[in-house]
Amino acid sequence: MKCVGFIGWRGMVGSVLIERMIKKKNFDNIIPYFFSTSQIGKSGPILSKNQDINILYNAYDTDILQEMDILVTCYGNDYTKIIYKKLKKKKWKGYWIDASSYLRMKKKSIICLDPINKELIYKGLEKGIKNFIGGNCTVSLMLMALSGLFKKDLIDWISVSTYQAASGGGSKNMCELLEQMGFIYKSIKYDLKNINYKILEIEKKIKNISLSNIIPKENFKCVLFGSLIPWIDKRMNNGQSREEWKGQAETNKILSSKKKIIVDGLCVRIGTFRCHSQSLTIKIKKNISIQEIKQIISNDNRWVKIVPNVYEETIKKLTPINVSGTLNILIGRLRKMNIGSKYISAFTIGDQLLWGAAEPIRRILEIIILNT
Ligand code: HSE
Repeated sequence: MKCVGFIGWRGMVGSVLIERMIKKKNFDNIIPYFFSTSQIGKSGPILSKNQDINILYNAYDTDILQEMDILVTCYGNDYTKIIYKKLKKKKWKGYWIDASSYLRMKKKSIICLDPINKELIYKGLEKGIKNFIGGNCTVSLMLMALSGLFKKDLIDWISVSTYQAASGGGSKNMCELLEQMGFIYKSIKYDLKNINYKILEIEKKIKNISLSNIIPKENFKCVLFGSLIPWIDKRMNNGQSREEWKGQAETNKILSSKKKIIVDGLCVRIGTFRCHSQSLTIKIKKNISIQEIKQIISNDNRWVKIVPNVYEETIKKLTPINVSGTLNILIGRLRKMNIGSKYISAFTIGDQLLWGAAEPIRRILEIIILNT
């Protein structure tokens, strides 16, 4: 039975991963070891009948790490940068499964999203690839939604606008959003109780507080609640943000496309909690009907669900709050656009902590356990 070391298992993505692994009984087939940077030597969880010790090991101790057959890290880029190199220097031959982006675009890494690139994963395993890295959340969620169209080579290009949740920035950002909500509400709650309230005065108060230095904004650097941030991650030389750059780069790596598929757009942070939404303009290669497009999309995988393009169902189903905490990938607002018969509009939503992060990691671990 394989020894699997977990690092960063208490963070947001890590805890979603552990929760899913418990649910799917993945711990029955491994001997888990839990690593820590802050509670070394203390007791860790017992999640498997194969575990005889539950001590927390030092996440920076490469002597212990190198004893593992598989390492699963949800600890972030900085950890990977340091530890992966050290383990390679020690000629460690295990599998490295990583939720962070540092190794994602390397030649010897496969971005794992098995409902989309199962063949690439199996071929990689046969060839001896050892690094399996989770994709960027918006990319994975978009691919899960449009997989059928990609597999039938129907997509010419995609233009995308994202509506990304606070959780994408980390747990501190989620808390900060809540603090901002509370801060603003407290400042106007008595005004709201006044039956003769003047909404424009309240709005002015909110604006002044939002732009002041007294509201918490250490993480977002500005107010997200009641506003939005049309920039995610660093600036690239061509004016894209890094999040926007990943759209095309990772899509083509995941699909291992022979001919580059163009994906470009604008990534925006909004005040939702854990679902990323995306508004898509898709140029298809053939003039096929919306009915056929819906069939191709929904026949591809069991998680993608079509929402009919009507108001009632859209507001009931096609919302971040409805999708939150589920593995469903919803896609709706599907229609041909006025631009021409090969231009499709669509809106898709997925949970960025599940299919956007933890689930591809859980599934690649399962694949490696079963196939190596
Ligand atoms: N980069 C994403 C975001 C996080 O900021 O929303 C998930 O990859």
